[in-house]
Amino acid sequence: MPESIDLLVHNTSELMTARPPRPGPVRRHDLDSIEIIPDGAAAIRDGKFVAVGTSAELRARYRPARELDAGGHLVTPAFSDPHTHLIHGGSRHAEWESKVLEQPSPGIDGGIRSTITATADASDDDLLEHAAGILDDMLASGTTAIETKSGYGLNRDAELRLLSLAADIRHPITISSTFLGAHTVPERLRDDRGAYISEIIEMLPAARRLADTCDIAIDPVSFTPEEGRRLIAAAVEHGFRLRFHADQTADIGGTGVAVEAGALTVDHLDFVSDAGLRSLADSPTLGVIFPAANMHLLDVTPGRDSHPPRNLVAWADRLIDSGAALALSTDYNPGTAPCTSMQLVMQLAARLYRISFAAAWNLSTLNAAHAIGAGDSRGSIEVGKDADFVLWRAEAHGQVVHRLGSNLASGVYIRGALVASDGRRIEGNE
Ligand code: NIG
Ligand code: FE
Repeated sequence: MPESIDLLVHNTSELMTARPPRPGPVRRHDLDSIEIIPDGAAAIRDGKFVAVGTSAELRARYRPARELDAGGHLVTPAFSDPHTHLIHGGSRHAEWESKVLEQPSPGIDGGIRSTITATADASDDDLLEHAAGILDDMLASGTTAIETKSGYGLNRDAELRLLSLAADIRHPITISSTFLGAHTVPERLRDDRGAYISEIIEMLPAARRLADTCDIAIDPVSFTPEEGRRLIAAAVEHGFRLRFHADQTADIGGTGVAVEAGALTVDHLDFVSDAGLRSLADSPTLGVIFPAANMHLLDVTPGRDSHPPRNLVAWADRLIDSGAALALSTDYNPGTAPCTSMQLVMQLAARLYRISFAAAWNLSTLNAAHAIGAGDSRGSIEVGKDADFVLWRAEAHGQVVHRLGSNLASGVYIRGALVASDGRRIEGNE
């Protein structure tokens, strides 16, 4: 007697399950393969996967209330995007054109300060409307869970405003909220950095009511390891889980500090030292990396033989070979990475880092879910996980990585329900 289910997804060309060969994030050479079931199928009940197999197997076993005939197309897990700066005012396109034209332009800290002003000048409605547009784009390109941060306030009221707005968002994408009071030092306290650290510490109890994660930027444009340690001690005392921006513009030992603090993630790693990388590889902390930011900052030359400042191929090889657990993310923000699409992130990762298609997918699905602390409930098509998946206008998973710039997601599903179709969110699913 066939069992009842809510939905049977079947008749795929490939069902990419992204089930890992061993528990936890996929590391090192395991990244270069990913489980594909030709003509695969998935059974869904109460928003969760209850069986994964071939179409023939599952059709014989289940009586579905609804069927999704994939029409011989690819089905994969949905993406998670573990590092975004979603809520901000203004646009930094003009500053970026100056950079493109090799004219004087502000550095990262100057750019952050201009976004702080634009954010303060924007109404709550404007900020929420802008964020909703970005979230709709993310959803339509296949992302169903993100992490996002404050950090464009840098004073108590403005930081708490951003966290409250994030908490008010109603959208099908699951949002995990992070307090980033420690993004950089505000202009007003440029000469009294210790006073700003004390201010951040005073914000922690109120921030903790709105966010369960605290991000601390340890980088020459932000805070020193010593300043970071002061913040870590206070954040841990208030029960925050930790993540870090570290070693983005130079190595000042941020990665080692993050690992020592037991961080969930340490993000950027552009200039990570050998010692920092060794400590990361020996830890459960994930390293999150951003090909869109690498490219958009215009400080890289693609290719194995490229000259300083950066050889991204060698850098990515070194990170992967270390055995560190890594994940890809957009780093969506108005300055260093105005990118909303994890498809584009995979496409850039293959080109800039010379990683395999399987690696690009592993780093953007299961590992990205781990990097928002959700690896047990999403990121792969596995029994017991949320049925978040994407139906593609493609037959092979490699086609999505090979394409450059189009949105190939034809249907995006959350817990078995269609939430976006052919580039547009379907209203009414929040
Ligand atoms: O790339 N240290 C901060 N870096 C941010 C920059 C955000 C911005 O340019 O507004 C980042 O994640
Ligand atoms: Fe960031």
